[in-house]
Amino acid sequence: MTATPVVQPLFRQATELLRGAGIMPVVTVERAGQGRSIALALAEGGLGAIEITLRTPAALAAISAAKRDVPGMLVGAGTILDPAQAQDALAAGADFIVTPGTTPALAEALAALPIPCIPGAATISEMLALAALGFESLKLFPAVPIGGIALLNSVAGPLPQLRFCPTGGIDEASAPAFLALPNVVCVGGSWMVSKEWIAAGRFDAVTESAARARALIDARPSA
Ligand code: 3PG
Repeated sequence: MTATPVVQPLFRQATELLRGAGIMPVVTVERAGQGRSIALALAEGGLGAIEITLRTPAALAAISAAKRDVPGMLVGAGTILDPAQAQDALAAGADFIVTPGTTPALAEALAALPIPCIPGAATISEMLALAALGFESLKLFPAVPIGGIALLNSVAGPLPQLRFCPTGGIDEASAPAFLALPNVVCVGGSWMVSKEWIAAGRFDAVTESAARARALIDARPSA
């Protein structure tokens, strides 16, 4: 029998960050200024963290702008695919890093970073490899297509030490059932920051959706 790896402070911090956030809005921006506007709108609705994906050229500048202009908001970099992007996100001032999936090289690089990281996993083998490096909280992605709640319940048996931020296919209606699971510390999704709202400058709609998400967090069983 192998010893359970000791959870390092930064790995534990990632768990606390997710637990504190409760719901993680996942945002893709076309312009840097949108990072600031969206972060402000989410903060106004009562949310404390945002994941800005590195899927567009504007993402790194948006992270810096949101960090600079929305004090108190935790600004993470998402869709980190390789160690170089992780370094770029760190240089842009990201508070934390999220990956959709995690190669062995990326996992090693994340484990060495000075900020909390939430590596993505979809299979038990990937979860095992990350747990062996000491990671405690993982992004389950894409959560709904790969099994959603049934998968999370099944994983709790063999891997009771792991905590998850399921993301992918979750919306306002389905979020509470995920938040109620003992091994879920946070739920991620883009429903609070719909592309249509952002394109139309409907930040009031973002704030309203964020406020409804805040109410779901406050109503979760562990709250
Ligand atoms: C992500 O990268 O986390 C997803 O794009 C968010 O998934 P959703 O759009 O299905 O919520």
